Amino acid sequence: MSAVPTVLVFDSGVGSLSIGGEIHRRLPHLNLIYAMDAGGFPYGEWEEGALSDHICATVTTLVEQTSPDLIVIACNSASTTVLPALRGQLSIPVVGVVPAIKPAAAISQSRVIGLLATPGTVRRQYTAQLIQDFAADCKVLSVGSGALAPAIEQRFWSGLEQPGLYAEIAQEFNRQPGSNEMDTLVLACTHFPLISAQLQRHFPGVTLIDSGEAIARRVESLLGSNSDASNGSGLQQVVVVGERELSACFKTQLAQRGISETPSFLLSER
Ligand code: DGL
Repeated sequence: MSAVPTVLVFDSGVGSLSIGGEIHRRLPHLNLIYAMDAGGFPYGEWEEGALSDHICATVTTLVEQTSPDLIVIACNSASTTVLPALRGQLSIPVVGVVPAIKPAAAISQSRVIGLLATPGTVRRQYTAQLIQDFAADCKVLSVGSGALAPAIEQRFWSGLEQPGLYAEIAQEFNRQPGSNEMDTLVLACTHFPLISAQLQRHFPGVTLIDSGEAIARRVESLLGSNSDASNGSGLQQVVVVGERELSACFKTQLAQRGISETPSFLLSER
């Protein structure tokens, strides 16, 4: 392993920024490549088998091109279906991001938990199993939104806010029996923590929880002791998969996070 390891943080889009941001906060010396599959977005709407094949092909190409020491699949919609296949094809560690049901169940006092995810993640057998294994004594209220991740992409690419959508999502929870007792809400799409402040206004008194910090700790346990943390800040770069020009708004978002553009890694759309 190189003295300063490189971590490839892969998502369909800007969800890689929420997970990568947590990794960078905890382990600033690591080199991070934020990979965004603009050609494949949104993953939440794909059929499982096709999504798995697409991600295996895309990620193995990215690994060949960027030679990372570890990869994080920074996407619940992907990790809840693709991890076994991907691990079978790669020789480096693959860390997945799955809904934070277990930590939510550990802190909920009321035993009523919300799950906000993409339609794909809400449908997955993997998610049902997580609920059965870790939250069997909780009532879990689910909302699978096909609109929220695209709205967050738009916010990053063009600056457009859609506050009406956040209110609609809160109403979708409020319509479900038991919602007035919900005390914990799992943000089970890596895009959603990027707007946690906006969402929190619509869920007063509810604890919002996501997997970011746990993933950063997992990366630390896999790489931390082998890597040289005395080097200061690592290099942070963005790779866009698919032919998409970075907008001025997007470049500003990257600059605010100290991330540079690497158009040299632009892959062609499949
Ligand atoms: N960021 C992805 C997730 O965690 C979802 C976005 C998409 O639908 O592509 O599920």
